[in-house]
Order: sequence, then structure tokens, then C-alpha cells
Amino acid sequence: MILHHLMARNLFLINFMILSFVFNSYTAHSWQNISSLDNIGQRCAPSDHPFSVCKSAAAAYGYPCEDHTVTTEDGYILSLKRIPYGISGGGNSTEKRQPVLLFHGLMVDSVSWLLGTPKESLGFILADGGFDVWFANTRGTNSSRNHTSLSPNDPAYWDWTWDELAAYDLPAFLQFVYDHTGGQKVHYIGHSLGTLIILAAFSENKLLHLVRSAVLLCPIAYLSRTKSKLARLATQILLAEAFHFLGYREFNPVGPVTHEILLLICGDPEIDCYDLFSAVAGPDCCLNTSTVCAFWQYATQSTSIKNLIHMSQMIRNDGVRRYDYGNAMENMKHYNQPRPPLYNLSSIPTHVPMFLTHGGQDFLGDVPDTRHLLRTLVRNHDSDNMEVLYVPDYAHADFVIGFNAPQLVYKPMVEFFQRH
Ligand SMILES: *[C@@H]1O[C@H](CO)[C@@H](O)[C@H](O)[C@H]1NC(C)=O
Ligand SMILES: *[C@@H]1O[C@H](CO)[C@@H](O)[C@H](O)[C@H]1NC(C)=O
Ligand SMILES: *[C@@H]1O[C@H](CO)[C@@H](O)[C@H](O)[C@H]1NC(C)=O
Ligand SMILES: *[C@@H]1O[C@H](CO)[C@@H](O)[C@H](O)[C@H]1NC(C)=O
Ligand SMILES: *[C@@H]1O[C@H](CO)[C@@H](O)[C@H](O)[C@H]1NC(C)=O
Ligand SMILES: *[C@@H]1O[C@H](CO)[C@@H](O)[C@H](O)[C@H]1NC(C)=O
Repeated sequence: MILHHLMARNLFLINFMILSFVFNSYTAHSWQNISSLDNIGQRCAPSDHPFSVCKSAAAAYGYPCEDHTVTTEDGYILSLKRIPYGISGGGNSTEKRQPVLLFHGLMVDSVSWLLGTPKESLGFILADGGFDVWFANTRGTNSSRNHTSLSPNDPAYWDWTWDELAAYDLPAFLQFVYDHTGGQKVHYIGHSLGTLIILAAFSENKLLHLVRSAVLLCPIAYLSRTKSKLARLATQILLAEAFHFLGYREFNPVGPVTHEILLLICGDPEIDCYDLFSAVAGPDCCLNTSTVCAFWQYATQSTSIKNLIHMSQMIRNDGVRRYDYGNAMENMKHYNQPRPPLYNLSSIPTHVPMFLTHGGQDFLGDVPDTRHLLRTLVRNHDSDNMEVLYVPDYAHADFVIGFNAPQLVYKPMVEFFQRH
């Protein structure tokens, strides 16, 4: 068993070394075409708006903002921001509003909900639309890097995957919002990874008492048919595993490790790194340059390498399971069974109101995988409580920063809230 493990690990390393050697020769050229990262300073003008939510107790554009901290059961001290009411639409601070929790996706934080103008960004639109808006920031992101006993410099700080986001971060945020709004059930909005964790929790019959309805933007659960060549290649060459082996624990998408990863991957002639957004997540139809710039400058955040390994496992295998420790013995230690436990999405209760929206161009929440999810979810779901919105031109990022998302997606979403 140990020998097997060592051999597997050596394989990652050899893989890694060969690839870096082979690709290094011609990536110097391709590298210059990775527009989104290196030369961002030259291409993007500095922003007029302070994008960190709640700088000096105000969000951008003068919206009111509160900063809260929430400690998870496993010791992570997380930042939860709130825009309690809007500035247009006749809001006032004392009237009772329905709470909404926005849960961001992988490698970003809550700033991603506020990158456009007040008319374009979901965070502002909901506040102006009469909701009490809360913004989750998961462990490892800029404002959520404290812990009761660990520092982000400790490898142990990064010993988590989305299993822990579902088991600790999500319930801590929901409980906090519930408690601070007089025990009101919360409308939940998740994007991408933010959808996977609530599906995982629901599949274990958890959190249902705190959630009034759930909106899933680009739901991801099944990933085995993903159209992202970049994600596929990274998975095939065991890239995340290689970096883990080399001692990396934190993955910062705009940090030096990423440079190495991109140097490796963008050498592949199959993969066009000119537009990194498209290479990873599909060709977005409806992004403005200013919002894309703001995204790369302000929204990108770290995640754990272990989390990326877990995602790779989902691309390699069908089904939605907990993190696989790689052999039966280690899995026995953690789960008391040789294979990681399954999140059985068929057992999600059929009465939870859900609004699910996905795009035809999305490489991550791709159409075949989403159809699979829909077959699992919709089959038995009460039809009154399930709404599906398909947007043919949209890819992954359009749902959060697309300039026409307010009409195409947010309007029907708010109408859905009004009915539930
Ligand atoms: C990459 O950049 C080089 C040099 O600027 C250019 O000649 C080439 O056409 C670019 N390739 C792509 C795919 O944009
Ligand atoms: C705010 O709304 C509440 C309830 O509608 C009302 O009682 C209160 O007078 C309003 N306050 C202000 C300052 O308008
Ligand atoms: C992280 O937060 C600090 C202040 O807390 C800020 O100075 C820094 O620019 C932030 N970094 C990013 C990448 O947002
Ligand atoms: C981190 O949390 C500890 C409590 O566990 C607190 O004493 C400390 O001030 C916090 N650090 C920061 C930078 O907020
Ligand atoms: C974004 O792009 C669309 C379409 O080109 C345009 O109508 C809109 O005014 C732009 N918004 C901003 C804030 O630049
Ligand atoms: C998943 O849940 C459904 C509905 O409760 C059940 O019929 C099915 O047997 C479960 N599947 C597994 C693999 O446990």
C-alpha cells in the first residue's frame, strides 16, 4: 500500500518535471498572450470605486455596509458583510426586510457580486429591491484568513475542501443571518461552488430549517463531462496533486504558483490562453471590459490545493462524493468505509423552493452535466417549487457580471422570491 502510494506520488512528480521541461521551451511566447493576468496594470484603468465590500463601513457607490465575523465549529474566523438596505427605491433602515445570503464561487470572494454599477450588480439590485443582503466570504479569502489557533502560513490551515465549506462555513453563515434577522428564514443565492455546497447539505437533510428558497446560478455537481479543456488537462496530468506533493497548500489564482501552472498548461497548443476566462469556464457573451478588469484586480482569491484535488476527482469520476484520500486505508480512517461517502442528490427533499439557471456556453456547469443534475433534482421535485431558466448564450461568469443579467436572470429570480 505504501509502495503504491509512493509510486503514485513519484509519478506526479515525474509528470510535472517532464511537462515543465517540454513546455518551457515555447511558453515564453504563449505566456505573452495570457492577457488577463500579467499586463492587467497596463490594460485596466484603476477603478473609481473601492471594491472591497465595507471599506470604511460603506460599500461602493455609498451603499450602507456592515462587517460581521462568524467563527466556524472548526475554528475559522470568517467575514460576513451586509448591505442592510439600498439607496434607491425608497428603502429605509427600520423596515423589516427578507434576508438573502449570497455565496460566491471558487477562487473569488463577495466582491464579485458588486463589480458593476448599481444597476448591473446583483448585490446592489437586491438591496434596492427591498432585501437585506448578506455576503459570505469563505475560508482562505482575503477577509476570512483568521483562525482561532492556525495561521494561513500553517499547512493545516489549508487542510480542507468544499466538504468543509458545506459542513462548517455554510451553516455558520446561515445560522448567523437567521439569528440576526429575528429568526427569518433566508433566501440563498449560490454561484458555481456555492451551489454545490448547498446541494451537498440538502442531500444530508441539513439546513432546511434555515433556508426559505435556494437560487442556483450555474449549478455544479456532476463534473465528469466538463467542456473546459484547461480543467481537463490539469486533471489528466494530476496537476493539483503534483503541486500538493511539491509542498504547496494554498492556491492563489494571481500568485506565483499560478504562473507556473499557466506556463505548463498554456504550452498546450489545444488551449488558447488568450482569454483565460474562456479557457477555464467558457466563452462569456456579455461582459464589459471594465467589469472584467475589476474582476481580475479585486475579486480573485485563494483556495486550497486540496480543494482543487477534490474538484479533479469529480472530473475524473462520476458521482458526487467526499474527498478521496486515495486508498482504502486512509478512507477507512476518515470515513470508516473504504470509499468516500456519496452525497445522494436524489434524496434532497422535494419541497425546497429552487430556482436553477444555467448557460449554454458554460464549460464548467456544462449542459450534459447540468441535464444529469436536473434529471436527479427535478424528477421528483414539486413542480410549483422548481423553476429552471436556461440562457443559451451565457457562460460561467455572465451570471454574476454579465451586463444584461439584470433583465435575463435577476428579474425572474426576484419574482421567484416574491412567490416563495
Ligand atoms: C500571441 O502573441 C504573439 C506576439 O504578440 C502573436 O504573434 C500571436 O498571434 C498571438 N497569438 C494569439 C493566439 O493571439
Ligand atoms: C420606515 O418604514 C417604517 C415601516 O414602513 C415606518 O414605520 C417608519 O416611519 C419609516 N421611517 C422613516 C425614517 O421613513
Ligand atoms: C486584502 O485586504 C487588504 C486589507 O485587509 C488589502 O490591503 C489588500 O489589497 C487585499 N488584497 C486583495 C487581493 O484584495
Ligand atoms: C484573529 O483572531 C483572534 C482571536 O482568535 C484575535 O485575537 C485577533 O485579533 C484576530 N486577528 C485579526 C488580524 O483580526
Ligand atoms: C456594457 O456593455 C454594453 C454592451 O456593449 C453597454 O450597453 C453598456 O452600456 C456597458 N456598460 C458599462 C457600464 O460600460
Ligand atoms: C439515494 O436516495 C434515493 C431517494 O431517497 C434512494 O432511492 C436511493 O436508493 C439512494 N441511493 C443511494 C446510492 O443511496
